[in-house]
Amino acid sequence: MPRRIRSWVAALYLPLAMAGPTAAVAQTPDGTFGSNQRFLSRDGATLFRSICQGCHMPDAKGAVGAGRYPALAGNDKLEIAGYPVFIVVNGQRGMPGFGDWLDDAQVAAVVNYVRTHFGNAYTDAVVPDDVRAVRP
Ligand code: HEC
Repeated sequence: MPRRIRSWVAALYLPLAMAGPTAAVAQTPDGTFGSNQRFLSRDGATLFRSICQGCHMPDAKGAVGAGRYPALAGNDKLEIAGYPVFIVVNGQRGMPGFGDWLDDAQVAAVVNYVRTHFGNAYTDAVVPDDVRAVRP
């Protein structure tokens, strides 16, 4: 795991942890990290809130500020399922890859969630084998 990503994750979750158990529970109802520092949730919506919305925004419309975070809402590039799968696993430029933090089923769940919400209606679901195929 590159140090850069490790410290990014720490920066994101440390304040949450320091805010105390109540706040942490409110943010991540089913817990975010396991003892082995992987995301625990198997649910696409929860994974989106835990990981993606910090950059792509809760409405998935993206943002331009310190960086440029493309909208996932109404994004034609999500039509080819392999594209978001590849990016979530391996990252691309300003986006870190999450392949070390999520197993194949979790990547599939969060990609399926994004591809069927926020104005996207791509119902050909990704399966864990599709994710395995793009792992380095
Ligand atoms: C640390 C901030 C960050 C997080 C967290 C993040 N992304 Fe990204 N994402 C980016 C940036 C920046 C880009 C643009 C990358 C580039 O320049 O190619 C991007 C690009 C993408 C793209 C390509 C969009 C396009 O129009 O080409 C997809 C799909 C995507 N992200 C999905 C996700 C999903 C799903 C998650 C949650 C699992 C996630 N991202 C989490 C920052 C982030």
